[in-house]
Amino acid sequence: MGRIDGVHLVVVLCLGISVGWVCCQDNDNVTAVYIVTLKEAPGAVYNAEFVVKTKPLKQDGKVNRLDKPLASNISRRGWYNGHNISRYHDSILREVLKGENYLKLYSYHYLINGFAVLVTPPQAVKLSQRREIANVVLDFSVRTATTYTPQFLGLPQGAWPKNGGFETAGEGVVIGFVDTGIDPKHPSFSDDSSGNPYPIPKHFSGICEITRDFPSGSCNRKLVGARHFAASAITRGIFNASKDYASPSDGDGHGTHTAATAAGNHGIPVIVAGHHYGDASGMAPRSHIAVYKALYKSFGGFAADVVAAIDQAAQDGVDIISLSITPNRRPPGIATYFNPIDMALLAAVKVGIFVVQAAGNTGPSAKSISSFSPWIFTVGAAAHGRVYSNSILLGNNISIPGVGLAPGTKNASMYTMVSAVHALNDTAAVDNMYVGECQDPNSLNRDIIQGNLLICSYSIRFVLGMSSIKQALTTAKNLSAVGVVFYLDPFVIGYQLNPVPMAIPGIILSSPDDSKILLQYYNSSLSRDVITQKITKFGAAASISGGVKATFSNSVPKVMYYSARGPDPEDKFLDNADILKPNLVAPGNLIWSAWSSHGTDSSEFLGENFAMMSGTSMAAPHVAGLAALIKKKFPSFSPSAIGSALSTTASLNDKNGQLMMAQRAYSNPDLNQSPATPFDMGSGFVNATAALDPGLIFDVAYDDYMSFLCSINGSSPVVLNFTGMSCKTSTINGADLNLPSITIAKLNQSRTVQRTVMNIARNETYRVGWTAPLGASLKAEPMQFFIASGERQVLTISINATANSPVVTFGKIGLFGDKGHTIHIPLSIISKNCYNTTNT
Ligand SMILES: *[C@@H]1O[C@H](CO)[C@@H](O)[C@H](O)[C@H]1NC(C)=O
Ligand SMILES: *[C@@H]1O[C@H](CO)[C@@H](O)[C@H](O)[C@H]1NC(C)=O
Ligand SMILES: *[C@@H]1O[C@H](CO)[C@@H](O)[C@H](O)[C@H]1NC(C)=O
Ligand SMILES: *[C@@H]1O[C@H](CO)[C@@H](O)[C@H](O)[C@H]1NC(C)=O
Ligand SMILES: *[C@@H]1O[C@H](CO)[C@@H](O)[C@H](O)[C@H]1NC(C)=O
Ligand SMILES: *[C@@H]1O[C@H](CO)[C@@H](O)[C@H](O)[C@H]1NC(C)=O
Ligand SMILES: *[C@@H]1O[C@H](CO)[C@@H](O)[C@H](O)[C@H]1NC(C)=O
Ligand SMILES: *[C@@H]1O[C@H](CO)[C@@H](O)[C@H](O)[C@H]1NC(C)=O
Ligand SMILES: *[C@@H]1O[C@H](CO)[C@@H](O)[C@H](O)[C@H]1NC(C)=O
Ligand SMILES: *[C@@H]1O[C@H](CO)[C@@H](O)[C@H](O)[C@H]1NC(C)=O
Ligand SMILES: *[C@@H]1O[C@H](CO)[C@@H](O)[C@H](O)[C@H]1NC(C)=O
Ligand SMILES: *[C@@H]1O[C@H](CO)[C@@H](O)[C@H](O)[C@H]1NC(C)=O
Repeated sequence: MGRIDGVHLVVVLCLGISVGWVCCQDNDNVTAVYIVTLKEAPGAVYNAEFVVKTKPLKQDGKVNRLDKPLASNISRRGWYNGHNISRYHDSILREVLKGENYLKLYSYHYLINGFAVLVTPPQAVKLSQRREIANVVLDFSVRTATTYTPQFLGLPQGAWPKNGGFETAGEGVVIGFVDTGIDPKHPSFSDDSSGNPYPIPKHFSGICEITRDFPSGSCNRKLVGARHFAASAITRGIFNASKDYASPSDGDGHGTHTAATAAGNHGIPVIVAGHHYGDASGMAPRSHIAVYKALYKSFGGFAADVVAAIDQAAQDGVDIISLSITPNRRPPGIATYFNPIDMALLAAVKVGIFVVQAAGNTGPSAKSISSFSPWIFTVGAAAHGRVYSNSILLGNNISIPGVGLAPGTKNASMYTMVSAVHALNDTAAVDNMYVGECQDPNSLNRDIIQGNLLICSYSIRFVLGMSSIKQALTTAKNLSAVGVVFYLDPFVIGYQLNPVPMAIPGIILSSPDDSKILLQYYNSSLSRDVITQKITKFGAAASISGGVKATFSNSVPKVMYYSARGPDPEDKFLDNADILKPNLVAPGNLIWSAWSSHGTDSSEFLGENFAMMSGTSMAAPHVAGLAALIKKKFPSFSPSAIGSALSTTASLNDKNGQLMMAQRAYSNPDLNQSPATPFDMGSGFVNATAALDPGLIFDVAYDDYMSFLCSINGSSPVVLNFTGMSCKTSTINGADLNLPSITIAKLNQSRTVQRTVMNIARNETYRVGWTAPLGASLKAEPMQFFIASGERQVLTISINATANSPVVTFGKIGLFGDKGHTIHIPLSIISKNCYNTTNT
């Protein structure tokens, strides 16, 4: 069923596969995977940093402190002072665990200098005491958190022409996907573009694994790299080669879907269950795809494998990393940022890779965000307004809405309805309590059903994959029913049904109340023999309108209820961070994209070429693709400059020009909504056209992220352990990072922050305007400035608390250029204390 991506895996975990942060520590005999970091800096330290070329800043305010980059002793390809780094790691293990059993799974050397190893807890302690070793942490589990979206984002008229048309949009840029793999035979990944051959991206040096299920020739100039990482999963004994494939092949569907959303070929027809839904295209249809499979159908994934995937992607030279995965639980420790994945991604950002991550599907409650760090671009999910509405008209003239990508019944005729439970095959097992789910044609009587509409129940078993719509449709077809009507079993409360393809007329009533109306009408129309109580006549009739035609709503974009929310929790005591999360929202609901030919993640799209999926997993690759367009246009942009261009130009309004809304409840989400705040939508809904012409940008240097990490109370040893760098005396708070947002968790009386903007457009004069958050006064200086092309300008923003309040309030600052550029800076204050009040 078109479930929300990621929810499924939660179900799996509840059934018992639970591998978390603290497993097995009390038992000395039980081995576990540990991620070990060495003190010596990894290879990425050596690489030059990407900085936007601007003239030097003559100023009073923020110093542009760029320390001389350290030279690592480790090369990009894993040589360590002329020795093989992997063998060096082996020699450390051999010395520390002399004669003992252990299994090294990976050597990391580019983003992290270290390794993943399967050892017992006492062995882990021995390792942590070794001079060369800085840090030993337990491996942890992670999970996987559009034919129409290019039009909705304005790409054909806006962003693609700025990139030379879809024929070249994103060309030369390589996007790396850490996901469930890919179906290389899908037309979305073919490089057979006659007359317009793909170039070979020169800066990319990745390879393609060749196995039986990923044969030679799978890769091409579009799909330029493909590997898989499963060592941690395999050591746990949960890897199932027949389902999970020990190759880059996608046995799930998710990875194929996300890759095509970002960079699938242009103009691929979406034909599902025989119906043509339009043509699909990735956001950056000419970008190249490199696949680093580290997530699997059966169990999700593990950090040790994900870090190996990220380390390889960075070494290979990808420009962008797209992560539609999030940790299963908030990382423990002093702050959420200090976990091996976020730390590896920090090094990736240092070498100029833009990192996009899904926010998580754990909304709508506050602090539900699963992507934490300021160097990562976190994307939430919004509806983009395409609706496939379906309805059923009952014989009593009541019309009920429902879902289902199904044809309608013929020419407005009414058809008799027969419930499966009233059409049992005499000889069949009446003791089958699930017979109402229409999974078995043999238990039903064709003579009663033929030519009529079959009523089936949609139970929790469908959500769990034990029953399927597809099988019910097969049953109906076998018995020559005209179509199928699914009513919702009362136990499926709050489950949001997405449209699923149906080859014959059909509908799923998606609310328990509507289901009651249908059943009441049906039951009251039955005629029964007074004595035997046997049904003598089925009196209820209906027609189904069908749901294959899209209609378009104007009350969009809208933040989906499941999209994870800020504020960003910083530490294990749930203190708030001075960092805005999510960064942005993008289309993530009901997204059509390519599906793997052996993708088993959704029984409803089994065997189809395309699938419609929902989740922040679907939103992140939209932004990865748009980032590729920005990277193509501005090759020297740092990751933070790309993030700035996307953020400052995001829109706050829906298509009606009203404030964008955010759904705030799991059930009846459209009745429980209010205007979106920065904790719902970050800077707003991505605007592709505007992001390619941002005017001003906010840039953050790697050293600033380091100074930020060092500002966290007691973080020095952890920073040293993870990055091999000592904290210096100069630190900066989160609110002082040069981000295009201002978040202050505790406003104690007053606070002044500075931001430095750089003009990447022509000379322009900007006027500064603002709306202060409730309970605070605000001032930005200068209120007007001229900024020449390539110059920088410092803005000083001071905020005073005018009322004590533990309630979060929001404001905004706008920079309005006389050449048409507009820059939005969202402002959030979580609690305020005025003068003369004590801090509680
Ligand atoms: C666990 O370890 C202890 C001592 O190291 C050993 O005596 C015992 O046999 C081990 N148990 C198992 C089940 O391996
Ligand atoms: C490289 O090796 C030298 C000598 O062993 C050491 O002093 C230096 O700190 C190393 N550099 C880095 C960046 O680790
Ligand atoms: C180092 O040795 C391992 C095997 O021990 C090998 O797989 C790897 O390719 C070598 N690395 C380099 C940089 O040659
Ligand atoms: C840093 O690593 C050392 C050695 O593994 C360990 O003893 C120490 O507890 C770590 N520090 C922190 C703050 O995690
Ligand atoms: C592996 O997957 C196959 C196919 O789904 C299944 O038949 C088999 O039972 C699974 N094996 C294990 C050990 O779970
Ligand atoms: C059926 O309902 C529609 C709208 O609800 C109404 O316009 C129409 O007159 C009704 N027809 C009958 C026969 O009651
Ligand atoms: C309705 O459809 C049936 C069969 O599909 C056809 O025979 C009949 O002529 C149609 N009636 C009208 C009014 O179009
Ligand atoms: C009824 O069930 C029997 C035995 O299961 C089967 O052979 C027969 O085909 C079924 N009849 C119908 C109409 O499905
Ligand atoms: C997106 O940006 C473009 C260019 O600045 C602007 O014309 C358009 O109105 C924006 N769209 C939305 C929905 O804000
Ligand atoms: C904040 O308070 C100080 C001291 O009262 C005052 O000088 C300053 O102008 C105030 N700033 C704002 C933005 O209200
Ligand atoms: C932009 O401003 C600079 C500095 O004021 C000036 O020297 C230059 O001529 C201006 N360029 C244009 C195209 O107006
Ligand atoms: C606030 O504090 C200042 C200085 O400490 C003091 O002069 C003033 O009277 C206090 N105001 C109130 C309302 O307590």
